[in-house]
Amino acid sequence: MANVLKVTNPATGELIQEVRINSEEEINQALKNGHEAFNKWRKVNAHERSRLLQKWSGIVQDHKEEIAKIMTLENGKPLAESRGEVDYATSYIDWYAEEAKRTYGRTIPANTESKRIIISRQPVGLVAAITPWNFPAAMMTRKAAPALAAGCTFIVKPAVETPLTTMRLVELAYEAGIPKDVLQYVNARGSVIGDIFTKSEYVRKISFTGSTPIGKQLIKNSADTVKHVTMELGGHAPLIVAEDADLDFAVQQTILTKYRNAGQTCVCANRIIVHENIVDSFSEKLAEAVKKLKVGNGLEPDTQVGPIINEKGYEKVAAQIQDAIDKGAEVLAGNQFNVNKEQGYFFVYPTVLKNVSTDADIMQEETFGPVAPIVSFKTLEEAVEIANSTPYGLAAYFFTNDYRTGTYFHDHLDFGIIGWNDGGPSGAHVPFGGMKESGLGREGSIEGIEPYLETKYLSIGNL
Ligand code: SIN
Repeated sequence: MANVLKVTNPATGELIQEVRINSEEEINQALKNGHEAFNKWRKVNAHERSRLLQKWSGIVQDHKEEIAKIMTLENGKPLAESRGEVDYATSYIDWYAEEAKRTYGRTIPANTESKRIIISRQPVGLVAAITPWNFPAAMMTRKAAPALAAGCTFIVKPAVETPLTTMRLVELAYEAGIPKDVLQYVNARGSVIGDIFTKSEYVRKISFTGSTPIGKQLIKNSADTVKHVTMELGGHAPLIVAEDADLDFAVQQTILTKYRNAGQTCVCANRIIVHENIVDSFSEKLAEAVKKLKVGNGLEPDTQVGPIINEKGYEKVAAQIQDAIDKGAEVLAGNQFNVNKEQGYFFVYPTVLKNVSTDADIMQEETFGPVAPIVSFKTLEEAVEIANSTPYGLAAYFFTNDYRTGTYFHDHLDFGIIGWNDGGPSGAHVPFGGMKESGLGREGSIEGIEPYLETKYLSIGNL
């Protein structure tokens, strides 16, 4: 296999850049360097680490247009979304620049006069991260910023589809004064990097965003050296629309969560569960709005929905649509494609499917595409049963203005992130992560720095 990654534009199939793949020796050397740098970085005081992070964030903002363009070129998302992602990415650096100063310990009253008890926090060590192509900037900073803030060193392997955004972000960190061995990237294929990272004696923590099967493998492999793990894995978000919901608002928020990044997000609504008395009007309104979305090259200013990342992704989305239709679904919008396999681009037009069978694959498996399958429910219990019926537990959404209905949904939905009349609950200030097979740990907010810290307890006796 060639030792370069061919990074292509998913909107055109054109080659953007060839990126050299690092050898196993180079990666192991980088891990050793990161491990050795840890003993210096952990001693840099928290205020100085905070200052360096703030500087990095400022420099990234100064290069916002450049990074947004790189991101749109390699990922395909509309330029406006890429600009938004640069802001989202820097918001994590800003947040953890502050949190660096707040990794508080505590004292505990002792059970005898001759002792004092002190609890302190210390960084876990070298962190190895594997980040996805769907948010090449924000998923990297969401891990790197709390790691560096806590005093850990950090090495990231970006997705093979989108390494360029990460490479640029790391270069800008060096401009900000973050030492080279403290923050590093390596380029490698997914099939080899997991083993290298998990086998390394230098790595103390693995942080991964990606699919559930790969996450499970990384957890298993991390067991041999008992590494810390944070896993942000697959999702299959239900979006429930109750009978009393404000339909226009619910439609607008459904579009926000479902068609952002062409439906290629872990938290996007994947199953639209609508009360039987309003399912017709909701579905028509959604289909009408979806037909107006402009599909195209993300570099064109009016594009709202970009391409699917690659052929494998497209095949999965197209197969799920066909399977749903074969099992009786009605197409209200979409089921159209602009695909050129030779050139290498794959556009799926925003699709709305009604009367989807709960047996359809799309109701069981993550889609990662711009397809909204609608099913109806009669009772709140039934809505919850459908919503909780998969192994996933990342995000869920519901729309109601009735506080009893909302409280019922909140209490019974087994998901880490819940949007009540809110299709966009993400942010650096909130804990992001899933239950069940959607992952372990949380990223963002005060919870997001915890996985990078160990607790150390000191008992002072003979006083
Ligand atoms: C994801 O889909 O993996 C992340 C989306 C977000 O942070 O909002």
